[in-house]
Amino acid sequence: MKILGIESSCDECSAAIVEDGKILSHIIASQIPLHAKYGGVVPELASRAHIVDIVEVLRGAFKEASVDPSEIDGVAVTQGPGLIGSLLVGLEAAKAFAYARNIPLVGVHHTEGHLLAPLLDTAQGMAKPGFPFMGLVVSGGHTNLIAVRGVGDYESIGQTLDDAAGEALDKVGKMLGLPYPGGVQIDRLSVGGNRERYQFPRALPQHDNFDFSFSGLKTSVATQLRKMGSMPEGQELADLCASALEAVVDTLARKTIRAAKKIGAQTVVVAGGVSANRRLRERLTEDCKNNKILLSIPPLKLCTDNAAMIAGLGQYRLRSLIESGAKFDAFDLQPRPGWRLV
Ligand code: KG4
Ligand code: ZN
Repeated sequence: MKILGIESSCDECSAAIVEDGKILSHIIASQIPLHAKYGGVVPELASRAHIVDIVEVLRGAFKEASVDPSEIDGVAVTQGPGLIGSLLVGLEAAKAFAYARNIPLVGVHHTEGHLLAPLLDTAQGMAKPGFPFMGLVVSGGHTNLIAVRGVGDYESIGQTLDDAAGEALDKVGKMLGLPYPGGVQIDRLSVGGNRERYQFPRALPQHDNFDFSFSGLKTSVATQLRKMGSMPEGQELADLCASALEAVVDTLARKTIRAAKKIGAQTVVVAGGVSANRRLRERLTEDCKNNKILLSIPPLKLCTDNAAMIAGLGQYRLRSLIESGAKFDAFDLQPRPGWRLV
C-alpha cells in the first residue's frame, strides 16, 4: 500500500510517500527563516507560506519517490492539533488529491504521528519499540507522558501544566537574545557550558507526580539576567544555556523513567522536536541503561514536524478501517486545532 502523507500543522510544509513501512520520499519546506525575525511563528504568515509551498512540496515527494500519482492507494493528513489556517491548507490539498484520484482519505492526530514515528525508523543504535512503551512527546506545543499499549491504545500519564518544554526553551532563548528557535540555539551553545553553574528550579519533584511545569524556569532565568546586569556572552552564556537546559532535561528524564517503571514498560520512546536535543538524548541513554530500559528515538528528520510520520500512521489507520469495514473520512473533513489525543 502506497500512502501519501501531508503535514502542515505549524511552520513546516511537508509531504511524504510511505510504502508498507518504508519511506520512499520525504520533503520538508521549513518556514523558520520567515518567522525568525518575529521571534516565533506568526500564524497568518505560516498559512500563506503553506499555500505557496504545498504544490511544490507534493511535486517533490512524487519526483523523489519516482511514483506516479495514480499509484497512491490512500492519503493521510494532519487534522490537528495545530494552527487552524495552517491545518486548512494541508487538509484541502489532501481532500483535493483524494477526491481527484477517488482514493480513501484519513485525518490523523499530529501527536500520535510523533509518538509512533519510531515504528517507521529509529536513529542509529536505537531500539525498535515494542508494546507497551512509555512515550515522551516533547515539542514546541506539547510535553506529554503517554502509556502506549498498542496503536490506538493510549493513556495519559502526565502533561505540562503551563509551557511545553520546547516553548520554555524558545522563550529562554528569546530572553538571551538568541535567534528563533531558541531550543536549537540553546542545544548548540550548551555543548561547551557548565550545567551546574546556575541552579534553576525543577518543578513538581514529588515521586508520584508525572506532570510538568516550566514557567518557573523562565522567571528564574529572568531573575538571573537582572542580577547579571548585562547580557551574558561567551562562557557565561554557554553556562547559562547549559544550566537552563539541564533543568528541563533533568525533569524530563526523571519523570519519564519513573513513568516507564510505573506501567512496567521496557521501552521509552521520545518524539517531537525537543527529542533532537543532544543533552536529552545523552541523559536518557544513560538513565535507560542504568534502569535496563530500551531507548527508542527516531532519526532527526522524523523528530521535528514531518509528513513521513503522518503517512506511517495513516497506513495503520487505513488498514484498520479496511479490516473493520468502517468508513474512511469524508471530503468535508474539518481541522481540529485543539484536538487532544488522550
Ligand atoms: O515538533 P516540533 O518541530 O513542532 C511542534 O510540534 O512544536 O518542535 C519544535 C520545538 C521548538 O520549540 C524547538 O525549539 C524545539 O522543538 N527543538 C529543540 C531542538 N530542535 C528543535 N529543542 C532543543 N534542542 C534541539 N536540538
Ligand atoms: Zn510536532
